[in-house]
Amino acid sequence: MLVSATEMLKKAVAGKYAVGQFNINNLEWTKSILATAQENNSPVILGVSAGAGKYMTGFKTVSAMVQAMIEDMKITVPVALHLDHGTYEQCFDCIEAGFSSVMFDGSHYPIAENIEKTTELVRVTREKGLSLEAEVGSIGGEEDGVIGAGEVADPKECKMIADLGVDFLAAGIGNIHGKYPENWKGLDFDALAAIKELTGDLPLVLHGGTGIPAEMIQKAISLGVAKINVNTECQLYFQAATRKYIEAGKDLEGKGFDPRKLLAPGCEAIKEIVKEKMELFGSVNKA
Ligand code: 13P
Repeated sequence: MLVSATEMLKKAVAGKYAVGQFNINNLEWTKSILATAQENNSPVILGVSAGAGKYMTGFKTVSAMVQAMIEDMKITVPVALHLDHGTYEQCFDCIEAGFSSVMFDGSHYPIAENIEKTTELVRVTREKGLSLEAEVGSIGGEEDGVIGAGEVADPKECKMIADLGVDFLAAGIGNIHGKYPENWKGLDFDALAAIKELTGDLPLVLHGGTGIPAEMIQKAISLGVAKINVNTECQLYFQAATRKYIEAGKDLEGKGFDPRKLLAPGCEAIKEIVKEKMELFGSVNKA
């Protein structure tokens, strides 16, 4: 059964660790991440971007697949199914499809509109017992080959959104999606501390978890980050393992072309990196 991410993240704040959000793209991704969470007795959040949802034919398919896999795989650790960077409308679509958590990314709206839309989503998610993530200060990243710097959120705006009753908050602190450029300045810990000061025990979310050095991750957790999103790194691990398999000519041996064999090294590689992240985030044995 799916659970909202509220409880697991409250526990993470209290216990000074973070729960990983790992984005899923297909059945293999989901299976690898769920198996790793169970093997490590860790809570887990499965992230679904709108693009990944569309790729899997729609949010209903994703929700049905994840819920059935939890049952068939006999997963007992807490699992939340979470919309990643949703629009206002996509949040409602996911709620209807049976997701247990949604993120409304209103960071590109003027703050008044972000507040208005977030307020309505707080009302609806409270009614249904689901969790809601909001965002202040957009997370930069690579788009069409151009890497935009991550914005640094205004702590006062974070407080305004936090006070609406959201369950956790993504605040930009110079983090970006995808690989970090050579000249990246690192996370802005002064901004994080200022946000934490005003938002109290509200779990903070660190997007763009790929490629952030371990010491920065640990410092961020010590300053109130309780959810860390990882997407690109699983893709890179899957890609490298798949490339190795093909370059070694394994797909040409026997039934090496069978997708269950062809995709197996990539799936194992995802398990390896997810386990590593769970250990780094401190969520192992916290289910
Ligand atoms: P990365 O792809 O950089 O790991 O970021 C993931 C993310 O923040 C999803 O919202």
